[in-house]
Amino acid sequence: MDLKFTEEHDLIRKTARDFAREELASGAADRDKNAVYPIEYIKKLGELGFCGMFVPEKYGGAGLDSISYCIALEELSKVDASVGVIISVTNSLAGYPILTFGTEEQKHKYLKPLAQGKTLGAFCLTEPGAGSDAAAQTTTAVRDGDYYVVNGAKHFVTSGSHADTFIVTVMTDRSKGVKGSSSLIIEKGFPGLKVQPPEHKLGIRSSDTHALVFDGVRVPVANRLGNEGDGLKVALSALDSGRMGIAGQALGIAQAALEASLLYAHQRKQFGQFLKDFQATQFKFADMETRIQAARLLLYHSALKKDSGQRYTKEGAMAKLFCSETAMWAANHAVQIYGGYGFTTEYPVERYMRDAKITEIYEGTSEIQRIVIAANLLSEWAKAHG
Ligand code: CAA
Repeated sequence: MDLKFTEEHDLIRKTARDFAREELASGAADRDKNAVYPIEYIKKLGELGFCGMFVPEKYGGAGLDSISYCIALEELSKVDASVGVIISVTNSLAGYPILTFGTEEQKHKYLKPLAQGKTLGAFCLTEPGAGSDAAAQTTTAVRDGDYYVVNGAKHFVTSGSHADTFIVTVMTDRSKGVKGSSSLIIEKGFPGLKVQPPEHKLGIRSSDTHALVFDGVRVPVANRLGNEGDGLKVALSALDSGRMGIAGQALGIAQAALEASLLYAHQRKQFGQFLKDFQATQFKFADMETRIQAARLLLYHSALKKDSGQRYTKEGAMAKLFCSETAMWAANHAVQIYGGYGFTTEYPVERYMRDAKITEIYEGTSEIQRIVIAANLLSEWAKAHG
């Protein structure tokens, strides 16, 4: 692994960190409390290039590498993890599949405005009966001339009420099972697309999450990504990139938990000394710093593998698994260090704990990541041993 930070990486870190501190920090707790979507900040981030980070400049993007993407997600999520997931979804789950599987026409029509931050993207895979078992899709798309007619429902769609462009997995031929799925680009304004009321959530409360109903939505065949039958492949490869984004988000939460704990340990005195002077606290800091740095390196490793053009499914899953479990664990330590105050909304660590939990669930639970890692490992072993 050859990891060297460039001046561009330093600039991305500084830009994202300054934006998070100057623009996001003061309102993050209130947006969380009142479940207010951070639309004005997402627009500003779009203008700064954060909505099309790895999209080439010819399609309106910033043309950056994946390390830059991880750095940006960590810095933004350190201050507001809801902003982190919105940025991750529009980049990885909407922009990336269009960049990878889209036609030139689709790239100009849909990817360019997404990358420029003029539109926002969302991803529709999960259904009431198809969560971890992504292959159990029931939303149908029946061909009618130059259109598909889409009927069904999708659940847990991040940015469901704010997105303009939806990447939707549908069944074009249910008799073929997994091989009968396809991926469609569906616009917010297509008649028959109905956004359901928002979910009320434990964490990342300022991002919105909705169910969507597709009631006879007519979608041009020209909006299909890849071939008929490629639907699950498109969705799972988008999730490889998405899992890297969520790992970056989780890393930001973990780092925030550590920094908040360090600050409090310098302010709070018990038994006549600051918390920082107790060895019990110092050991927690040592473990947090070590594990967070290990998580960061695992994430950068997956980013380097992606940028080398190799399949990075296993590395993305390892990064997502380790970063999300680190976030939950670090947030738990932070609440413990804050004691009773950590259990109140007076301090941010309870928000970090609530936000961390979802990183172990969405874009594939920790159990799914372990399935993906083990399957890839066994397949590598089988190849190596004939
Ligand atoms: N890249 C490209 N293609 C891939 C792929 C990848 N990473 N993974 C699998 N494929 C291909 C396979 O090669 C296969 O195609 P072929 O048959 O042509 O070879 C096809 O896709 C199906 O693959 P599998 O047989 O491995 O599929 P499976 O059904 O066994 O998958 C699973 C099992 C890995 C558990 C998968 O279902 C999975 O990842 N589930 C979790 C789904 C998930 O993460 N959902 C979260 C939704 S998004 C969200 O959270 C909302 C949000 O807005 C944030």
